[in-house]
Amino acid sequence: MVVTIDGPSGAGKSTVSRRLAAELGFAYLDTGALYRAVGLAASVQGMARETSEAVIAAWLTRVDITAKPERGRFVVYLEDRDVEAFIRNEEIGGIASRLSAMAPVRGFLLSLQRRAGQAGDLVAEGRDMGTVVFPQAQVKFFLTAQDAERARRRYEELKPGRPELTLAQVAGDLAARDGRDQGRSLAPLTPARDAVVIDSSKIGVEEVLALMLARVREAGEAT
Ligand code: DC
Repeated sequence: MVVTIDGPSGAGKSTVSRRLAAELGFAYLDTGALYRAVGLAASVQGMARETSEAVIAAWLTRVDITAKPERGRFVVYLEDRDVEAFIRNEEIGGIASRLSAMAPVRGFLLSLQRRAGQAGDLVAEGRDMGTVVFPQAQVKFFLTAQDAERARRRYEELKPGRPELTLAQVAGDLAARDGRDQGRSLAPLTPARDAVVIDSSKIGVEEVLALMLARVREAGEAT
């Protein structure tokens, strides 16, 4: 079974997706990490500001990104390096967001993501899991939260490492990224027609998880 979780940054997708996969014994795929790996490769190889899709398409033929199942989750590699320690920052997030609007980048990652879905039961997290990558998924969720709440969460997350950061800055960055992710013409962030929409503004992780588990179990019983 494939379970998809889409939604904007800061809605709590990662925590919930990871927990849901663990509870169900499904593999976990963080597709944001794949886009961030493309962002990292672009940053290292001087392509971060490239705007020509033809140039990006040609460059991607030389980029080696893979997702390997390891202990219940897909680990993203750039060549032979696990990228995790290098991609969780605003710079790489910004590059990933810009490049993710380009057709060759989305095409490049599409088959990689679908292959993960063929490997067995999966919880796949991203922006277009239920709409584009796994349109036939048995259970789809769209996890969201009010803008101010998402900014507050992201601020709390970043503050320990960057004490100079202000809530207003984080809110501004988040709004810019949301605007790009929702406004792009290719695979924009939007709930799939058959997605269960959950607003996590006023409910905690445990409650979101309980709602999701109930829905997945219901779907499992129906098949
Ligand atoms: O979820 P994240 O912040 O790690 O994602 C980084 C960027 O990648 C995000 O701004 C948009 C893009 N992305 C995408 O376009 N489609 C996905 N399925 C996942 C991420």
